[in-house]
Amino acid sequence: MRILGIESSCDESAVAVLDDERGLLAHELFSQVDLHRLYGGVVPELASRDHVQRLLPLVRQALARAGTTPSELSGVAYTAGPGLVGALLTGAALGRSMAYALGIPAVPVHHLEGHLLAPLLEDRVPPFPHLALLVSGGHTMLIVVKALGDYEMLGETRDDAAGEAFDKSAKLLGLPYPGGPELSRLAEQGRAGVFEFPRPMLDRAGFEFSFSGLKTAVMLAVRAAEAAGKLLDAQQRADIARGVQDAIVDTLVGKTARALDETGLGHLVVAGGVSANRALRAALEQAARRRKVEIYFPRFEFCTDNAAMIAVAGMARLKQGGASPNLAIEARAQWPLMSLRAPGVHRGT
Ligand code: KG4
Ligand code: ZN
Repeated sequence: MRILGIESSCDESAVAVLDDERGLLAHELFSQVDLHRLYGGVVPELASRDHVQRLLPLVRQALARAGTTPSELSGVAYTAGPGLVGALLTGAALGRSMAYALGIPAVPVHHLEGHLLAPLLEDRVPPFPHLALLVSGGHTMLIVVKALGDYEMLGETRDDAAGEAFDKSAKLLGLPYPGGPELSRLAEQGRAGVFEFPRPMLDRAGFEFSFSGLKTAVMLAVRAAEAAGKLLDAQQRADIARGVQDAIVDTLVGKTARALDETGLGHLVVAGGVSANRALRAALEQAARRRKVEIYFPRFEFCTDNAAMIAVAGMARLKQGGASPNLAIEARAQWPLMSLRAPGVHRGT
């Protein structure tokens, strides 16, 4: 079975070709960061227009690199949500139309299920059931993954996501968009403990997160440091970045460790853009090792948005009969992960 995957939910246009015997044959990605940097964040209309221009050439490029003709494809998987609806529509319309023209099934994929299943692209594959920490720009969740489409939410963020906390703090420090990776780079030069930021909800029972207070704390720290009328110096900025990263990492690791202890699960998946953060990876690896828990990350390039994860999730669903039953072009801005079911299982059954 050979699947074409298409991702266009936000500011990355991406296309991949995945074969169930030969593995990942191609993955192409065009990032729009340069387009949006001027505005300090993603401009939805610009994102949609750019996807329209990029996707088709990326499909041609991916097929050529994979040495595949369209007639060898068994299905087309596209991100159907959640995300920016205009951006989603571009990939969904392309994916659905290609599948129709080729007479093969189209598989609408949930973006977060793509992130969750990204470790399936690696040689070491996590078995079910496992615990997953999903940390992206829009979501922070601890989930028990029992099987494909069988998810139990242990807790999620009440307000900002972990990636958002990185991005907003980075903005307050004057770092360019996208701020998460920039802040993490700056934190490497920072000293631990110079700036202590709150670890919200860490001392409370349960698995909920709250990161919105962090940006206020960072703003106050920046203001206080600048109160004397001086600009922050390079070391102070790095120390603040370090303080932010340590607060986010401690909170995520503390809750994840508690979830491992309470569920007794022996396998942990960490996925989503923030799972590319090296400090988080190291701290989670240590927590897992202490508990003799096996830990799985996607490779760095598949932590952030990509089409290989959409292809792998689409293939998993297609194999279990998860093709779209009609010709609808599916695009949903909002789509709760917990509303998903295993392929072939309908809501309420
Ligand atoms: O999964 P993703 O690519 O897109 C969403 O589905 O949201 O995640 C993007 C988020 C952004 O907030 C970005 O700043 C963050 O992941 N991110 C990082 C790092 N790389 C990406 N945050 C901290 N450290 C990183 N190295
Ligand atoms: Zn994502």
